[in-house]
Amino acid sequence: MKFFVDSADIREIRQAVEWGVCDGVTTNPSLVAATGRPLAEVVADITAVVDGPISVEATALDADGLWKQAREIGTVHPNIVVKIPMTREGMQVTRLCSKAGIKTNVTLVFSAIQALLAAKAGATFVSPFIGRLDDIATDGMQLVQDIETLYGNYLFDTEVIVASVRHPMHVLEAARLGADICTIPFGVLKKLYDHPLTDIGIERFLKDWEKVPGKTVK
Ligand code: E4P
Repeated sequence: MKFFVDSADIREIRQAVEWGVCDGVTTNPSLVAATGRPLAEVVADITAVVDGPISVEATALDADGLWKQAREIGTVHPNIVVKIPMTREGMQVTRLCSKAGIKTNVTLVFSAIQALLAAKAGATFVSPFIGRLDDIATDGMQLVQDIETLYGNYLFDTEVIVASVRHPMHVLEAARLGADICTIPFGVLKKLYDHPLTDIGIERFLKDWEKVPGKTVK
């Protein structure tokens, strides 16, 4: 499973790259707004450090506006993927992008049928929002499973990005289902490394290490 970082904060992204766990990045308007920086600067910083797909969201609602934005965003850098919302106009433009060789990530997907439409439109990626479904007492991971089944039935190339991840169990469940990608907020990414038994083990080893009379290997 590829790990994307769900962030527009260059410090977080750089840290994930240094840890070797950043196969790509997803941003959205809220994440960009949280940086307080102009989009062009945010995108330039991310493309400079990440060697993988970087999703940047188009915000127009009409097909003409969306298509114009998609061409602008999609040609900024070879790694840029245009994030397009799951709407009728969005799927119309996803199809145009697919024909024009512009990579797309269909976002705000909450049903398997929406994911089927995205794949039929030629989306490069599809993003089911797991956490937001869980938030309304609906099984988000079941959606991922359903999408995997549909895509398997028809051998679509569209890759599934498990999105709206809230905690490490979401990452584990995504991997259990064999999802292509999980996009992970930095706070959750950090937690993936932690286990209390690891901390206790390190503490115990360091204590015992103090008793070793000679500590060099030669
Ligand atoms: C995915 O591409 C989105 O940026 C993100 O996962 C949304 O997550 P949220 O529900 O935590 O806002």
